[in-house]
Amino acid sequence: MKILAIETSCDETGITVLEAEGTSDEARFTVLGNALYSQAAKHADFGGVYPNLAKREHAANAVPLMVQALKDAQLYQKTTQKQALKHKEALGTLLHREQGLFEALVDCLENIARPSVDAIAVTKGPGLEPALWVGVNFARALSLAWDIPIIAVNHLEGHIVASACTTEEGETYTLRDTTFPVLGLLISGGHTELIHAEAWGSYTVLGETRDDAVGEAYDKVARMLGLPYPGGLHIANLAHEGRRLAHQKYGKPLAVDIDLPRPMKNTDNLDFSFSGLKTAVLYLVRKIGTLDDHAKMRIATEFEEAVVDVLLAKVGKTMNRLPVSTFVLGGGVAANTYIRKRLTVLLSESFPDVRIQFPPKGLSTDNAVMIGMAGYLQYERLTKEAFIRDDAEFAAEGRMKLRNG
Ligand code: KG4
Ligand code: ZN
Repeated sequence: MKILAIETSCDETGITVLEAEGTSDEARFTVLGNALYSQAAKHADFGGVYPNLAKREHAANAVPLMVQALKDAQLYQKTTQKQALKHKEALGTLLHREQGLFEALVDCLENIARPSVDAIAVTKGPGLEPALWVGVNFARALSLAWDIPIIAVNHLEGHIVASACTTEEGETYTLRDTTFPVLGLLISGGHTELIHAEAWGSYTVLGETRDDAVGEAYDKVARMLGLPYPGGLHIANLAHEGRRLAHQKYGKPLAVDIDLPRPMKNTDNLDFSFSGLKTAVLYLVRKIGTLDDHAKMRIATEFEEAVVDVLLAKVGKTMNRLPVSTFVLGGGVAANTYIRKRLTVLLSESFPDVRIQFPPKGLSTDNAVMIGMAGYLQYERLTKEAFIRDDAEFAAEGRMKLRNG
């Protein structure tokens, strides 16, 4: 089946056309069209994602991105005048909402014939509510105009499914190698979650952050060090250099005596907290006053070490308590090579039977491919009544939990 997938939960607008086939334990996904736009540069001045700006950007870009994705998938066709009128009529009830978006939509629906897709998958939550609403309203409008059912997707399930995929060739991904139970560690700018999955659709959230997400802490510390936004990769690069120099033992003697906390590392529960670590960096930066490059490097190195120590401690604790066959890492911070390396060492030394899997290239940060994948698995396991057609109650849910079923 073909799925049109929409992701607008944070600062990436993603629209994908996905061809999905097979049962859930050996599903295959081929990306037919994929248009992704990152707003990161627009949020740089705020040092974080600014929800109303995200909303405006999603609304401005959703239609052109969809057109691009449909064209790439060769599903873009001009409509007839009669069809265009029907589309507009169906949309009538929704036109008062999201004015900018729907003006663009009406224009586009006058030009695009109903594409031959079987379902629309859209992120319902969790995420920034104003941003999520754009995707939800967009999906409703397309569903009404084109009479296509909607599958509401949990963004976190999307990350887990994407991370469990292996790439076969080019743009084809498969779930064939996943054995349950799966333990997922999701780390991004918006979430820090440890999730245990018994099967697709059967999840337990074991632990989550009580304050800042991992990526958020990276971004805030980067800002304190005067590094550009988003700061994760910049911190990671500095820390890499710090470790290299320390290893060669030819760094200058420490300009500062750095010893950062590892919040909640030794608590019995599986929750996380990163705001204390961030605040510790803030006090340190204030104490030092003017930061030279060497001090920045040392702070970044110790910060990353503290983050990794906490993540490893919690993963190790979980593995000792629960059966796990596959470990998957997901979210934007999963791109971090040092975190990957330390997790690989931990698992291969202490839990050699566990398969470890990192997201395929391009699927660690937010994207619509993963939303289409999770949507397909829902489509496979649920009855047709679970899909949304003209449902006025269909709403974004900023704090959506991972539900079973
Ligand atoms: O998943 P994502 O694209 O969006 C959110 O849902 O937040 O993740 C973006 C986050 C940002 O905080 C960014 O700084 C962080 O991922 N990030 C990294 C690295 N690359 C991106 N953090 C640490 N190391 C990296 N190499
Ligand atoms: Zn995400």
